[in-house]
Amino acid sequence: MYVPSHVVTNHDLTQYMDTSDEWIRERTGIIERRYAHRTDETTTTMGLEAARIAIERAGTTPQDIDFVIFATLSPDYYFPGCGVLLQRAMKMKEVGALDVRNQCSGFVYAISVADQFIRSGMYKNILVVGAEKHSFGLDFSTRGRNVSVIFGDGAGAVVMQPSSDDKHKVLSTHLHSDGESAEILAMYNPGTHANYWLDEKLADFDTAELGEMFFSHTMIDNAQVFPNMDGQAVFKKAVVKFPEVIMEALDSNNYKPADLKLLIPHQANLRISQFVQQKLRLRDDQVFNNIQHYGNTTAASIPIALCEAWEQGRINEGDLVCLAAFGSGFTWASALLKW
Ligand SMILES: CC(C)(COP(=O)(O)OP(=O)(O)OC[C@H]1O[C@@H](n2cnc3c(N)ncnc32)[C@H](O)[C@@H]1OP(=O)(O)O)[C@@H](O)C(=O)NCCC(=O)NCCS
Repeated sequence: MYVPSHVVTNHDLTQYMDTSDEWIRERTGIIERRYAHRTDETTTTMGLEAARIAIERAGTTPQDIDFVIFATLSPDYYFPGCGVLLQRAMKMKEVGALDVRNQCSGFVYAISVADQFIRSGMYKNILVVGAEKHSFGLDFSTRGRNVSVIFGDGAGAVVMQPSSDDKHKVLSTHLHSDGESAEILAMYNPGTHANYWLDEKLADFDTAELGEMFFSHTMIDNAQVFPNMDGQAVFKKAVVKFPEVIMEALDSNNYKPADLKLLIPHQANLRISQFVQQKLRLRDDQVFNNIQHYGNTTAASIPIALCEAWEQGRINEGDLVCLAAFGSGFTWASALLKW
């Protein structure tokens, strides 16, 4: 994992917006988050720092990596994706690089893709990265406070390889989506939607000049270039889908919640994790939470949590570990691992 050194407390955010430490802690559990250096750090460079550590710990080298999967919603460029920037920065061979755009469930989706490539025998050393630089794209006025206080920057990475025995493996992965609520947690602009899916008229796409539609002054003037979220709707769906997809993973492999050594949920909101814990009747030591210190880092949250859990000795060889995520789309996913 890699997180920027700059710590931003809840109190620090009160300089920009009408909010308070109490409100943020009570509703989300977040105490502080990290923000990347404005110009010295990007989503890709943070991913790179995490990737270096993952590659070293896997006892391999960047030249041995035969495929890259990069999950993020805050890429350095609109295109090309971060995967190729990482391939270049790490001086890798001309290997395939795939970008995953699944927001909070991006890392679990990426793990699932890597698992299939490994199972088919196509690749042997897949680098999977999740990274985000949210601090560049949030609305720091009071208008955006319901979203901005939640998110933080950081990165995590793993190297996935075929295992020679049955003790260390991805047992199964489970991926889902329901686009019915796509706009409930979304950033519309810049994009090519031209209001097609939206009830509200965001910009004058019908009258704007060619060349002024993708990114216009109207969008900037009306603050339509930031993420939107109906927090309560996200919360309600998350507390149903998280337990469902975790149970799907356990049932598929004939396990029960009590068999889990550790559940590592996407760090969306501490209240959501606590709700899931209660619903599945898990003990405190069976659920890992670190949102208190990093906020919600979207595609990076699970690999950051996985790394901290492993470093703290919370997971050991052969342990049953479940990764689970829910987020924008909506998309949700789980992966059951024998560590
Ligand atoms: C976002 C979330 C914390 C908001 O909490 P909530 O209890 O639903 O709060 P509401 O949105 O109903 O807003 C309640 C009030 O707090 C205010 N408020 C919103 N953000 C605030 C902030 N940062 N500081 C202070 N007040 C805030 C609202 O304006 C509203 O004020 P009003 O009652 O005067 O209108 C909560 O809905 C949530 O966590 N949802 C899930 C979000 C999530 O996990 N997203 C990531 C998915 S991967």
